[in-house]
Amino acid sequence: MPIPRVAFLSFFGLGALGVLLAVARQPQTSEAAKFPSSYVDAKGAISLPSDYRLKWTHLGSWSVTEEGGGIGLHDVYAQPDAVTSFINDGKWPDGATIVKEVRGGHEAKLTTGQARWDGEIKVWFVMVKDAKNSFPDNPNWGRGWGWALYNKSDPTKNVSTNYKLDCIACHVPAQETDWIYLRGYPTLNEKAGPFGTYPATTYQPADAAK
Ligand code: HEC
Repeated sequence: MPIPRVAFLSFFGLGALGVLLAVARQPQTSEAAKFPSSYVDAKGAISLPSDYRLKWTHLGSWSVTEEGGGIGLHDVYAQPDAVTSFINDGKWPDGATIVKEVRGGHEAKLTTGQARWDGEIKVWFVMVKDAKNSFPDNPNWGRGWGWALYNKSDPTKNVSTNYKLDCIACHVPAQETDWIYLRGYPTLNEKAGPFGTYPATTYQPADAAK
């Protein structure tokens, strides 16, 4: 039986409308899900990565004598893909995540000399690259990064509420290197790696002498 012309038109008319609606809606839903990191939700809440010690790249370590004389040992990690990307073009890709694990330390004279080594974890600092300013209304995001801090007592809670109050002042000396203290990271600034066999790094440490 031939399909009546009106029914035929309205069937395809509705179909076309459906497609149009789907296309029109798409940017909104994909925009929210688009931020390229599984550690960041649609509102910009940052969660602490848990597998950085086993699966990420170690950038370098800091040994700090804290006020009062305590030992602080800081180990810094980033995702392998982000590190390769940085080595190639000197920029962090969006979603690149840097974790600074802060530990206390032990100290004793060993057969090597006066030795200091890792103690208990105290806190974690986390930065997530965001060149597109994806979360302009979230006070944990700005200057091209998301900023977060977690205590050992509750690794699920970002206790930093505003990067302008909690972070940025101390990172001003590293402003020229996108707020990261690059001089401490041989993985990023040692030209061609420890044996000269890696791809040459783009970044040359202008702040090395400071
Ligand atoms: C008291 C000063 C101070 C404050 C406050 C501070 N930072 Fe830092 N941060 C530093 C210094 C200095 C380094 C590198 C040397 C070190 O760890 O001792 C660093 C390193 C880091 C690193 C490793 C990557 C890099 O930049 O070299 C991350 C990640 C980080 N900080 C995140 C944060 C976040 C997030 C906040 C706020 C919640 C914050 N920091 C607050 C001083 C500070």
